[in-house]
Amino acid sequence: MTQDEMKKAVAQEAIQHVEIDTIIGVGTGSTANFFIDELAKIKHQIKGTVASSVASADRLKGHGIDVFELNSVDEISIYIDGADETNAYLHLVKGGGGALTREKIVAAASKKFVCIVDESKLVDYLGQFPLPVEVIPMARGYVAREIVKLGGEPVLREGFTTDNGNIILDIHGMEIMEAVKLEKQLNHITGVVTNGLFAMRPADVLLVGKPDGVDTVYSK
Ligand code: A5P
Repeated sequence: MTQDEMKKAVAQEAIQHVEIDTIIGVGTGSTANFFIDELAKIKHQIKGTVASSVASADRLKGHGIDVFELNSVDEISIYIDGADETNAYLHLVKGGGGALTREKIVAAASKKFVCIVDESKLVDYLGQFPLPVEVIPMARGYVAREIVKLGGEPVLREGFTTDNGNIILDIHGMEIMEAVKLEKQLNHITGVVTNGLFAMRPADVLLVGKPDGVDTVYSK
């Protein structure tokens, strides 16, 4: 199987986790896009969706799937999204596409989080993929200096603005051994909107696409 075939396989498997007649949270990225395309096939069996980015909302609408504002729904049964890295605890690094804040909000508001990845995303420890941090633009220099104090090398994502009008600093050079602790430390830096560690609220289920099929891993 190619990488795209593995992404498609986990997207198809994720459909098995979709609860009929509920609102579905939908993530962002190439794997989430495969999921959106699969969701379109059962669109008449769900109430609608909440999207974690403008790009995903546009793709959902293109398929004729209803997209609701988060504030207008009472409950999201499940959130389905990809990741840039995952460890054995289903702690994730996300935000390679820059949608980390809305992804974290929709994940937090959902009863269950199913993460869909191909096997290239599995790592022993997080941090090889640069950790994205969404920052209020005027705080860029201050936040960067605080990140250096934590041992990271922040790099501005050039020419990129988030859906919320902010910048992204990608942190290089960190071996993340205590993901929950680092997630909290980054959240406490004034000017940080969100960081891409999903450790305080990890995935509940991880679907991993491999050349010989899809593995299902449950959080410990
Ligand atoms: C988007 O901001 C990210 O969090 C994505 O979930 C992540 O980058 C995975 O994307 P792919 O499925 O394209 O690898």
